[in-house]
Amino acid sequence: MDKYQDKTELIPGQSVKWQVEYFDKIDSTNSYLAIKARSGEPEGLVAVANYQTSGHGRLNRPWVAEQGSSLLMSMLLEPKVEITNSHVVVMVLSLAVVDSVHELYGAKLSIKWPNDIVESSGPGEPPGRKLGGILSEVVFPEVITHSYSSQADNNAKKYKLVIGLGLNLIWDSEALHQLEFGQRACSLNELVTVSIDRDQLMSKILEKFDCRYADLGPSNSPKEILSDYRLRCDTVGRRVAIESQNGSVEGVVLDIDDTGELLVDVGACISRVSVGDVIEFYKVN
Ligand code: BTN
Repeated sequence: MDKYQDKTELIPGQSVKWQVEYFDKIDSTNSYLAIKARSGEPEGLVAVANYQTSGHGRLNRPWVAEQGSSLLMSMLLEPKVEITNSHVVVMVLSLAVVDSVHELYGAKLSIKWPNDIVESSGPGEPPGRKLGGILSEVVFPEVITHSYSSQADNNAKKYKLVIGLGLNLIWDSEALHQLEFGQRACSLNELVTVSIDRDQLMSKILEKFDCRYADLGPSNSPKEILSDYRLRCDTVGRRVAIESQNGSVEGVVLDIDDTGELLVDVGACISRVSVGDVIEFYKVN
C-alpha cells in the first residue's frame, strides 16, 4: 500500500473529526478500514484510493476501476442508530453523493434501491445506467472488556460500520463499456462537460454526509432522510424483478417503508423486500 499523498488530512465535522488517508494503491479501502475497526480505531477514518487490487461490491462481486478513473472511498463509523437501522446511514451517503454531484456539476443523478447511484431517467425512458455503488459492512471490534464493568455492556452492543463508495468519474468510454456490466454502466464524464475534480467531490460528499450524520441519534426518527431518499429513489414507481436468496419477486414498487424495505405490488398482495438484486423496467407512473 503506497500513500499517494504523504499527509493525512484532518477535516473537522459537526460531530466527527474526519481523518482522510490517501492511497495510490490498496487492496480495498473497505478491507483496510475493517481491519482498523476490528483493532479499535475510532470512527472518522476515511480511506481514499487511486486504485484497488481487490475492490469488492455487494453480493461478493468484484468492483473494478481503472487507475485514477473513480472516486474510491470508505468511511469508518460508529453510528448512534441501532444496528437494525443502519441502512439509514447508507441512505445518508447515497443522498450526499447525488446532492454533491448536482451542486458541483449540475448533473441530476438518482438512487436505485438499495444503494446504487444511477443516471436519472423519466417515465417512458429505460432505467438509468449505473455510475456507482455503496457497500456497507458491519464490524464488531475485538475489544477485550471485563464483564463486571458497565463499559463492557456498552462495548458489547457497539458496532462499527464501514461504508465504501465506488463512483465512476473519468472513464475511457470504450474501456468501461467492455466490462462485464459495461453496457449498463456510465461514468460522470459522459454526463457533464466541465472538468471533474475528484478530491473536491470527495470533500463535498464528506461535508454533506457529515451534516445529516451528526443529527442521527438512537431516539430521533430520521423521517427527513427517508423522505429525501424516497424523492431521489428512481426505483419507486417502476416495474421490477428482484432476485434474492428467498426467491424472486415481480411487480410494481409502491414505496419504501421506514425500515428501508421495498413494498412491491405483486398483484395478489404487497410483498416486502429487504435484500436483493433489482432488475428495473419501465416506470408505471
Ligand atoms: C456495489 O456493489 O454496487 C457497491 C460497490 C462498492 C465499491 C466500493 S469502492 C471503495 C470501497 N472499497 C471496496 O472494496 N468496495 C467499496
